[in-house]
Amino acid sequence: MGEWNSKSWREKPILQQPTYKNQEALKDVEKSLSKFPPLVFAEEVRSLKKQLAAVTNGEGFLLQGGDCAESFSEFNADNIRDFFKVFLQMSVVLTYAGGKPVVKVGRIAGQFAKPRSSDFETSDGVELPSYRGDIINSIEFTSEAREPNPERMIMAYNQAAATQNLLRAFARGGFADLTKVHRWNLDFTKKSNAFTKYQEITTKIEESLRFMDACGINANTAPNLAQTVLYTSHEALLLNYEEALTRLDSTTNKWYDCSAHMLWIGDRTRGLEQAHVEFLRGVENPVGIKAGPTTTVDDLLKLIDAVNPENEAGKLNIIVRMGAEKVKENFPSLLRAVKKEGKNILWSCDPMHGNTIKAANDYKTREFDNVVKEVKNFFDIHKAEGTIAGGIHLEMTGKDVTECVGGGQEISEEDLGSRYHTHCDPRLNASQALELSFLIADNLKEANK
Ligand code: PEP
Ligand code: CO
Repeated sequence: MGEWNSKSWREKPILQQPTYKNQEALKDVEKSLSKFPPLVFAEEVRSLKKQLAAVTNGEGFLLQGGDCAESFSEFNADNIRDFFKVFLQMSVVLTYAGGKPVVKVGRIAGQFAKPRSSDFETSDGVELPSYRGDIINSIEFTSEAREPNPERMIMAYNQAAATQNLLRAFARGGFADLTKVHRWNLDFTKKSNAFTKYQEITTKIEESLRFMDACGINANTAPNLAQTVLYTSHEALLLNYEEALTRLDSTTNKWYDCSAHMLWIGDRTRGLEQAHVEFLRGVENPVGIKAGPTTTVDDLLKLIDAVNPENEAGKLNIIVRMGAEKVKENFPSLLRAVKKEGKNILWSCDPMHGNTIKAANDYKTREFDNVVKEVKNFFDIHKAEGTIAGGIHLEMTGKDVTECVGGGQEISEEDLGSRYHTHCDPRLNASQALELSFLIADNLKEANK
């Protein structure tokens, strides 16, 4: 591979990009963005990498999740707060089960650009460019709305900055205090089975904290009890935006993509000789690579060498998203080959993207049972191969939406229309997400035996 710089991706073939009509306006936006403050600080990225290295070695678990696509219209404090609440709850469930730290990484504060299976969408005989995420165009089905507009990058940056700001305030300002663990409950989840199980855990945590307090250990002596860290991540798809936020760190003289702590490459854009791999191989951030059912051993080994030539632990997260059944056929050979080569990989399971179906009423959905099945198969495969199931990657929200069928609420295909709000793929709602975290916890306990 040639010399890397933050623009070298421009020399490579690239997929899944908008065509901006006004190139001058695009350049102006890139110029403005490149002067805006970074959204994350290089030292934070280094901390995340250290924690992911520990996860790679079996000393923790990665919880990554959030919207499929963040949108301008769903941007408000309540949505951010409710996501944060359910994410903290899930993290408590997983920490309790695994007895190890949970590294929390949101698909948030930048998860705007979407790869699409087709460049065009047809409705009532009218064909228009596909919606590619709010950072590129708008979801309304009119030709003006679907025209890519570079100014949207500035709007996305501003939203990401405000989101990041609130997340930091919640994480450090007392909201995440473990003595308030019961306050993270969301009203609408209170009828669920998962809620009852969660209450049992919080009661035990509160008892332990009271005991520790009596022994002199509390938030004053151990500030970690009252604070947490939520890292951010998104798919680095729109490289004009990513390049503009990529900065040289003055302490290390290395390049960091300061749009988020962690970035990933999607299943459709992981071509070895293509722009997305070229861009992400040069930044210091931890990188995820999605591995779908068509990934071959050869693809994967070459990608691993391209993105992580030094075999640094914590750098590379392979996010397996094959589907509940296909994971059994396709994953073991990949895992064996990578293990044989001695590569340091954090393996995580995305049980969402290989299990998307169309309901009879045309809604894109996912069956909760298939999500659970893929997770179980993923853990079983690791157990059989003697490797580590290091993390989970979910599309989820803190809201009571009806986008995925099944789960304790028994959401049916007929229910989908009631609260189907996603701008792209169907997300687990807060009850389903909490319920899933208990099932992941069972797998974690089994893996620890
Ligand atoms: C996604 O994570 O939203 C996505 C598009 O995933 P994938 O690249 O795995 O299809
Ligand atoms: Co998605």
